[in-house]
Amino acid sequence: MTAILEVKNLKTYFFTKKGVVKAVDDVSFHVNEKEILGIVGESGAGKSITGFSILKAIDPPGKIVDGQIIFRGEDLVPKSEEEMRHIRGNHISMVFQDPLTSLNPVFTIGYQLEEAIKVHNPNMPKSEVRERSIELLRSVGIPSPEKRLNNYPHQFSGGMRQRVVIAIALANNPDLVIADEPTTALDVTIQAQVLNLMRRLSQEKGSSIILITHDMGVVAQMADRIAVMYAGKMVEIGPTEEIVFNPKHPYTIGLIRSIPKLSGRTGKRLYQIPGIMPSLLNLPPGCAFAPRCFCKTDICEKETPEFEKVGENHYVRCFNYRRIADDRQSCKS
Ligand SMILES: Nc1ncnc2c1ncn2[C@@H]1O[C@H](COP(=O)(O)OP(=O)(O)OP(=O)(O)O)[C@@H](O)[C@H]1O
Ligand SMILES: [Mg+2]
Repeated sequence: MTAILEVKNLKTYFFTKKGVVKAVDDVSFHVNEKEILGIVGESGAGKSITGFSILKAIDPPGKIVDGQIIFRGEDLVPKSEEEMRHIRGNHISMVFQDPLTSLNPVFTIGYQLEEAIKVHNPNMPKSEVRERSIELLRSVGIPSPEKRLNNYPHQFSGGMRQRVVIAIALANNPDLVIADEPTTALDVTIQAQVLNLMRRLSQEKGSSIILITHDMGVVAQMADRIAVMYAGKMVEIGPTEEIVFNPKHPYTIGLIRSIPKLSGRTGKRLYQIPGIMPSLLNLPPGCAFAPRCFCKTDICEKETPEFEKVGENHYVRCFNYRRIADDRQSCKS
C-alpha cells in the first residue's frame, strides 16, 4: 500500500494573548491510497486544526511551527500560497459540517459547480463543463440534475445541499478529501445516505478520505483505520477492527463504550467518560487524559507516554495499557 499523505511530527500552535494553545502537538499519521482514515475525538481535540493544517489554511495567530506534511512525495509546509491554491480543490479538497458556509447563497448550484470545475480546467469548453456538472449532480443522487442546476442553495434540503458540496469536492477527482463532520448537521437517516454516498464515490474515483468526527459510531462504520485524538495529540491509531474490538487507550475504551449500538447495553444509561477535556492553554505535564483516566498511576501525571506498537499497524500512547488488558479490576482506583 502506498501512502499518499504522510504527516510527521506536526505542530500547529495558536499564539494568543493568554498564551500558546498547542492545538496540534506532535501529530504523526499517514493515509494510504483509496483509504478512509477516521480522526475521532471530543470537541477541542484538534481534529479540525489538523485538517486545516494539511491544506495550510491556518490564519494568525495560528501557525504551523514544526513538522512535515508530505503529499504525493512533496512536503507542503514550505510551499507558497500560490502553490497551495493549485493543490486545494485540485488534489486535496474539503467538505465542512455546514453546507451553507461552503455554498454561496447568491449563486445557483450550477454556477458554483461550474466554477469549481473551471478553476482547475480553464480551457474546458463551456458545454463540457455543463455536462460534467450535470453528471456530478447525478452521481450524488440529485434527481433531474439538468433542472436543479438553476436552483439556489436555499431551494435544496440540508441533505441535498451536503450532496452538492460533496459533488463540488469531488469535481476534479482529488486524491484526498478532508471531510470535517460532513454529516453532523443532518438527520440520522440522511447521515447514513450521505456517508454511504461518500464511500461509494471515493471508491469509484479512487480518492482517499480523512473523515473527521466526534462520533465513534460513524468512523467505526466508515473508516478503514481510526486515529483517536485527545488534547492536541494522537493517542491511538490502528485498523478499525482493532480500535473497535481491541482498543488499548483508556480514552478509546471510553469512546467505544459510549457508542449506543456497539455497547449492546439497551435499556441502561449509556457510558459517559467522566470529566471534560482540559484547555489546551498551558497544559500540565504528563498525559493529558490522566485526570479522567480509570487506570492512571504516578508516572502519568509526570511524563508524556510515547507511541508503542501493540499490533499490526496499531499504536498506542499509554503507560498502563498492559495493565488494563491484564487486569481491568486493578485499574479501579
Ligand atoms: N483561532 C484560534 N485561536 C486560538 N485557539 C484556537 C483557534 N482555533 C482553534 N483553537 C483551539 O485549538 C483547539 C483545537 O481546535 P479544533 O477546532 O481543531 O477542535 P476539534 O477537535 O475540531 O473540535 P470540534 O469537535 O469542536 O470541531 C481548541 O482548543 C481551540 O480552542
Ligand atoms: Mg472541528
